Amino acid sequence: MMRKLIFLTMTLGVFSQFSAAEDMQATLEEYRCGYCHKVDSYYHAPSFKDIAMRYAADKQRMLKVLPSKIIHGGAGNWGVVPMVTNHMVSPAAAHELAEWILDLK
Ligand code: HEC
Repeated sequence: MMRKLIFLTMTLGVFSQFSAAEDMQATLEEYRCGYCHKVDSYYHAPSFKDIAMRYAADKQRMLKVLPSKIIHGGAGNWGVVPMVTNHMVSPAAAHELAEWILDLK
């Protein structure tokens, strides 16, 4: 009985992680972030993993800064190419995206 429970909890854990990643993929597509960003290699913009790495030590502060950059765009942190504004992204979605990006390893 106990074994079954442990197995069930583990399967559910893996499953919910998986679907969270799937959801995020859909969100990235919906907002066209992937037009410029890839998760682990430079495309037209820094990869999300590079962004996570650069800000790893400063995560709490960046969680407040990045959502606004995601919505309003901006330039100068990675080069001269600016990030466009993404006004269709809600503050809540921007926060979720920032959190997801900063948690990438
Ligand atoms: C038209 C291309 C483009 C699109 C679309 C785009 N980005 Fe960017 N993004 C960039 C560029 C270029 C930079 C680097 C800007 C800089 O140097 O400060 C950047 C930087 C970032 C950063 C790091 C900001 C910083 O201050 O270091 C984050 C986080 C980010 N983008 C998330 C997103 C998300 C989430 C989306 C989708 C809602 C998105 N981007 C859509 C081009 C884009």
